[in-house]
Amino acid sequence: MTLVPPGEGRLWVIGCGNMGRALLDAALGAGLSPDRVSVVDPAMPGDLDPAIRTAPSPALLGEIPTAVLFAVKPQLLQAASGELAPHVPAGAIILSILAGTSTEVLRQRFPRALVVRAMPNTPARIGRGVTALFADHESAAARQFAQDFFAASGEVVWLDDERLFDAVTAVSGSGPAYLFHFIEALACAGESVGLPQDLSRALARRTVTGAAALAEHSDEEPEELRRQVTSPRGTTEAGLAQLMPELTGLVSRTVAAAARRSAELAAETAPEEPAAD
Ligand SMILES: NC(=O)c1ccc[n+]([C@@H]2O[C@H](COP(=O)([O-])OP(=O)(O)OC[C@H]3O[C@@H](n4cnc5c(N)ncnc54)[C@H](OP(=O)(O)O)[C@@H]3O)[C@@H](O)[C@H]2O)c1
Repeated sequence: MTLVPPGEGRLWVIGCGNMGRALLDAALGAGLSPDRVSVVDPAMPGDLDPAIRTAPSPALLGEIPTAVLFAVKPQLLQAASGELAPHVPAGAIILSILAGTSTEVLRQRFPRALVVRAMPNTPARIGRGVTALFADHESAAARQFAQDFFAASGEVVWLDDERLFDAVTAVSGSGPAYLFHFIEALACAGESVGLPQDLSRALARRTVTGAAALAEHSDEEPEELRRQVTSPRGTTEAGLAQLMPELTGLVSRTVAAAARRSAELAAETAPEEPAAD
């Protein structure tokens, strides 16, 4: 399947940092033609395909988009949307990945556009991401473009309740960082029981990625896979006796804190209530 911006038009990428670049590269890998793409980013990534047009601001592109990947930091919403909005025509599709930024806020900024809100995650860099999508309109064209665009970097799930975004952000958006830290902790623990640093790091990384791949490819639930490697009175049982009483509560507090922060970010960018007379 070839990914084509709606109306055989142009895709603008506004903010081509870590996540914007990962999603753009995946889309190019899925057949999006670079000569249909323009990138706006003051940092001007230097190693883009030469067919991609670049500019430090939308006003300098001298064209209009039919779709936009909006991928700046949430704190830059006001400045970046202020520069972008005059160039977004009626019916253009805005794919926003800004954490904590609601479709209501985005609609205020881009009143004539069709907004699809997304929460991707960093494994998108290798085509193994998962993205949650939400749209509060029924445009089949916008939904299909969003589906195809994000499917280029991994799995796609649609939410029917936007309020789930805080929880999704806390689980799959932030989740890769929790797993990276688990690898660090396992490597550190290996050193403390006598492994050389390099060996411990290699074992920890391969164990987590191998176990994750097994969980993905097995028909059995993770709980069952854990039982299968836990012999009575064996080494795994001894280790889990330390881990399990702590981990469930710890992960639960971790996810709750991230969800709270997502809600705080949402409150910071929430539209102002109209003043009472
Ligand atoms: N990273 C993740 O795991 C993840 C996951 C899900 C969602 N997100 C969301 O993705 C968004 C981007 O995150 P990120 O990690 O990719 O951030 P990032 O690496 O800082 O990328 C943002 C890019 O936008 C550029 N920029 C700043 N002002 C701009 C403007 N007015 N117009 C166009 N570009 C502008 C920045 O340039 P300068 O560096 O020069 O400022 C930077 O290159 C955030 O809203 C975040 O909530 C991230």
